[in-house]
Amino acid sequence: MKTAVLGIGMVGQALAGRLAELGHEVAVGTRDVAATLARTEPDRMGNPAYAVWAQSHPQIQLATFADAAAGAELVVNATNGAASIAVLTAAGRANLAGKALLDIANPLDFSAGFPPTLFVKDTDSLGERIQREFPELRVVKGLNTLNANLMVNPGQLAGGQHTVFVSGNDADAKKTVIGLLESFGHTDVIDLGDITTARGTEMVLPIWLRLMGALNTPMFNFKIVR
Ligand SMILES: NC(=O)c1ccc[n+]([C@@H]2O[C@H](COP(=O)([O-])OP(=O)(O)OC[C@H]3O[C@@H](n4cnc5c(N)ncnc54)[C@H](OP(=O)(O)O)[C@@H]3O)[C@@H](O)[C@H]2O)c1
Repeated sequence: MKTAVLGIGMVGQALAGRLAELGHEVAVGTRDVAATLARTEPDRMGNPAYAVWAQSHPQIQLATFADAAAGAELVVNATNGAASIAVLTAAGRANLAGKALLDIANPLDFSAGFPPTLFVKDTDSLGERIQREFPELRVVKGLNTLNANLMVNPGQLAGGQHTVFVSGNDADAKKTVIGLLESFGHTDVIDLGDITTARGTEMVLPIWLRLMGALNTPMFNFKIVR
């Protein structure tokens, strides 16, 4: 499948790398291709610069958000939640029309430091904002409740026997995303329902962040026992 991964951070790299490994054609989107390729220092968290990571992924194309989205059948939103609407606007409505969007972004607000708060919650969600702003997109919220490495390689923890969620209004788009998650190794994907259910998975972030502090690692996930 031709996929566009919007975002070059650890989530974008994890998704793009795994999709390419599974044989998908992948273009990664960024604001300024030349500026992104010119950066070689790791980020504040020690994640490699895109240009360094790209050396071991020569088959993955780096493009503007619009060029990456243009040829894709499936689009992944792996951008900063506060910038996601602007990124999708830059990607271009015509390039997004009718496509499934796997939205991994969280509405985190770091303006008052750590831990961040949520800039939308309870009565709305980032997933819903994106769906309202881009009715031509078929938004599926997913993978936003676990660390990037576990998103694409769940087997790193307890044989992959832990839970991920999807939320979205379009049954076919959810089917495509669930198939993709299963191809990554996920064995327990819970379809929560329509896009309003993204409120719940985005509001998991406050406890997720505190668990990371308490456990001193991001390598954990939720398992829904029933
Ligand atoms: N890190 C995790 O393990 C994890 C887990 C679950 C969910 N998430 C969510 O996944 C998303 C991606 O996380 P991340 O850590 O990989 O990367 P990130 O640093 O949150 O986002 C990186 C991307 O956001 C874009 N961006 C930032 N500010 C922008 C602006 N003002 N205008 C346009 N674009 C802007 C950047 O574009 P340029 O390339 O042009 O700089 C970059 O590609 C976030 O929403 C995060 O909350 C992360």
